[in-house]
Amino acid sequence: MKNAEVQEEIQNLRDQLNKYNYEYYVLDKPTVPDAEYDQLMKQLIKLESEHPELQTIDSPSQRVGGEILEAFEKVNHTTPMLSLGNAFDEEDLRDFDRRIRQAVGDNFSYICELKIDGLAVSLRYEEGRFVQGATRGDGTIGEDITSNLRTIRTLPLKIEEPVTFEVRGEAFMPKRSFEQLNEEREQKNEERFANPRNAAAGSLRQLDPKIAAKRQLDIFVYGISEIENIDIDSHSNGLDYLEQLGFRTNSERKRCDNIDEVIQFVGNWTEQRPELAYEIDGIVIKVDSLQQQEELGSTAKSPRWAIAYKFPAEEVVTKLIGIELSVGRTGAVTPTAILEPVQVAGTIVKRASLHNEDFIREKDIKLNDYVVIKKAGDIIPEVVNVIVERRSGNEQEFKMPEACPECGSELVRIEEEVALRCINPKCPAQIREGLIHFVSRNAMNIDGLGEKVIAQLFKENLIQNVADLYKLDKEELLKLERMGEKSVSNLLKAIEKSKENSLERLLFGLGIRYVGAKAAKTLAQHFETIENLQKANNEELIAVEEIGEKMAESIVAYFGQEEVNELINQLKEIGVNIKFKGPKRINTEDIDSIFAGKTVVLTGKLEVFSRNDAKASIEALGGKVTGSVSKKTDILVAGKEAGSKLEKAEKLGINIMSEVEFIEVLKD
Ligand code: IVH
Repeated sequence: MKNAEVQEEIQNLRDQLNKYNYEYYVLDKPTVPDAEYDQLMKQLIKLESEHPELQTIDSPSQRVGGEILEAFEKVNHTTPMLSLGNAFDEEDLRDFDRRIRQAVGDNFSYICELKIDGLAVSLRYEEGRFVQGATRGDGTIGEDITSNLRTIRTLPLKIEEPVTFEVRGEAFMPKRSFEQLNEEREQKNEERFANPRNAAAGSLRQLDPKIAAKRQLDIFVYGISEIENIDIDSHSNGLDYLEQLGFRTNSERKRCDNIDEVIQFVGNWTEQRPELAYEIDGIVIKVDSLQQQEELGSTAKSPRWAIAYKFPAEEVVTKLIGIELSVGRTGAVTPTAILEPVQVAGTIVKRASLHNEDFIREKDIKLNDYVVIKKAGDIIPEVVNVIVERRSGNEQEFKMPEACPECGSELVRIEEEVALRCINPKCPAQIREGLIHFVSRNAMNIDGLGEKVIAQLFKENLIQNVADLYKLDKEELLKLERMGEKSVSNLLKAIEKSKENSLERLLFGLGIRYVGAKAAKTLAQHFETIENLQKANNEELIAVEEIGEKMAESIVAYFGQEEVNELINQLKEIGVNIKFKGPKRINTEDIDSIFAGKTVVLTGKLEVFSRNDAKASIEALGGKVTGSVSKKTDILVAGKEAGSKLEKAEKLGINIMSEVEFIEVLKD
């Protein structure tokens, strides 16, 4: 065969296989026997292996899983992947409805969808081809899991129309696949997955796509972001359109004209939930009109036009067989309930925090009591109440100790606080917990330094304060349990790398009372170096937006300590960065720019800028970038081949700027 013929043959096979795949998996209506499908696939794989130059990533042969990756690349979400506000009962839903009606009046409808319990993913299509899929990550930066997503049979690798857009959806593992997988794992003596969500997430986070390919994952898509030149005015139209293109959407959706209908829908699914072939954890309620969605807008975290109703958490009964005490970084002594192991919402629960003495009193919790357990937010185990009727007389009152369980010093209850505290600054538990906090993810983020390693290093007297971490040497580390050449070398590299962190990580890591990750960022942005912050007095601190009196006092007191100044000098000598590296905060009112305080929409093909850069530039100049044109839009930046957005902007008399003009403005 000539090359052109081979190419055509390959294309035919791919088209045919895509069609059969869609009929089988999405429509659940196969039109050919399995053997015929397998036969065609074999032919395709054969041709592709004979002509590797004709292999493409969107070939259906790739569904079996491509090459093993070394690591997942990071992906920037041009439009952030927001999360949803929660509603837990009818009242919350009615409040939501009131807020919506206040903003857009009474003329609107809702669309209710099942809230699939899986993993949010973003799927990028360019000219009709699936080119990139990513996890949500922190909403702004996710991980590139394209090769794994390609293995999901219901995800179209190529769509009929050459559209360029991003589709969002939920990847999940159906209940049956989950049970099958766990049975297999049990037979192989491997640990069971706690629930289908964890199993789906675990599968998509494998570097070897062949594993994901075997896991029988599925996907429902529920939204389009960055709709360009597509005439869609409501969310439900968007879903219909996605369905037409060959995506799998969830058909159990319903348009509701008022909140009573929504509440009815929620009630129905609360009952019917067990009959579904996949897990859902609630109902998502969205305002249908895109125009009204735009009017309602979003907060930094979530859109105002949607809410997630969460089903109540599962509750189970178990016995409280002990109470353990632990001392935290700030000296607070926390009691933890030790429970007879019990399965709750998919995982075995053995412990639950009892918070403090007051909590134990209020709930009248005694040793040997039978207690009701649930998982708050489906994650953190919590004692709901005691079953007094089941008491046998063997229950014992619990009393908090008078001395610190770690260092023996007297515990104190500081005025207005509920916690008992150990106020010995040399208490080993506090120092150890402080070190664990310093290396943690939101602080210095040192990979390979988990709680266990820190505890070991501390016990062996290799570290007493955070500066000591930077003085660790290879020989000492090699002597520790479970530490080989490779892990020691990686650990030392990670420690070294952390020296480059921007100031806010160090500030948060130091563990100054009341200074959380967010306040640390604000302080770093404002003061720029640790020296400036050390010099700041109460008034200067309070003058900073979001810094209150209590925090200011705590900061001044912290830097007033001789040991702290010594520690910071040591860190500086070691070469730990003490400067803020992120972008400067811009006060929008101060900027004399044509974008300051304006709402800007980008459309069409930009040639010099990437979307991301254009957006970042506008935001740096105090503007806000949104997705669609409405009365509230101030400026439209239109690149080549701009379509419906340009038309609409012209109609509304919105200020329109070409890319060339945009560049001119930026130069100014
Ligand atoms: S809409 C702007 N619809 O629930 C947010 N989310 O916090 C758009 N989810 O992790 C989300 N089913 O992945 C939407 N039908 C559905 C959903 C759904 C599940 C997940 C979503 C996110 C979380 C919302």
